[in-house]
Amino acid sequence: MFLFGEHAVVYGKPGIAMAIKPRVFVTVRKTKHPQRAKSPYIDGCFESMGVMGSVYINSQIPSSSGLGSSAAVTIATLSAINDEFSLHKTREDIANMAFEIEKKVQKGRASPTDTTVSMYGGIVLISGGSRRRLPPQNLHLVIGDSLVSHSTAKMVELVGEQKKKHPDIVDPILNAIEGVSMSAIHHLNNPKELGRYMDMNHALLEALGVGHPQLSKIVLVARSEGAFGAKITGAGGGGCMVALCPKHLKQRIANAIEACDARAIVTGIDIEGARKEKNV
Ligand code: MEV
Repeated sequence: MFLFGEHAVVYGKPGIAMAIKPRVFVTVRKTKHPQRAKSPYIDGCFESMGVMGSVYINSQIPSSSGLGSSAAVTIATLSAINDEFSLHKTREDIANMAFEIEKKVQKGRASPTDTTVSMYGGIVLISGGSRRRLPPQNLHLVIGDSLVSHSTAKMVELVGEQKKKHPDIVDPILNAIEGVSMSAIHHLNNPKELGRYMDMNHALLEALGVGHPQLSKIVLVARSEGAFGAKITGAGGGGCMVALCPKHLKQRIANAIEACDARAIVTGIDIEGARKEKNV
């Protein structure tokens, strides 16, 4: 999920994303009579690997929430197919295939951000075509799911329209988001400072028009309960926010978010990325 730079990445600006817990578990088995999966992402995985099999998915990440759940499921499925059929694809091959699948299912609108972090884990800086792993930090995070449904494609389109209509306003906002991301990189181990950058990024996302009253409400509640910073994560217009918290306040902040008719997930960074659990 995004820590900084969502929407700006669509215009070639840098983005900072991280892999979070909980993990997604996928089991793949060779079968002679595979059933079609209900998800175009899963179908895309078997298609691009050129094999057929059955799949069992156990995911605690809410789908369509802006947390990159489709990327996590796609990466986990491709990795499980790779192991089950001994296809010897590299991590890079799998990350690239997952990005192509996301792009196809999302009709061209996808950045490689979520697929990259799901593959490698930790915190990743995506900049143009390149990606760099940043030193992983033990960040204490609470995610607030507004339970307001949204469409990433629609939000991306909305920003595109605004940019076309008001380039003199929107371009400087995108540049400012880039400035926030590039400064934040140097403060990943300073939660107080990092929180301030998250607040700035949130304000810029609202200025782009991807806010939502329910998201604003839980962002403000998290801050007033003591979060270092809080912002929308992902496309906005609904979906999720993320708060960076002092460890001892995590549960209190989560409770306050839930009291606003939202769902809270107390979490942290996953540093391992995709991995084979065990042979069963
Ligand atoms: C959506 O999670 C993040 C966006 O930047 C789109 C993308 O990067 O694919 C809005």
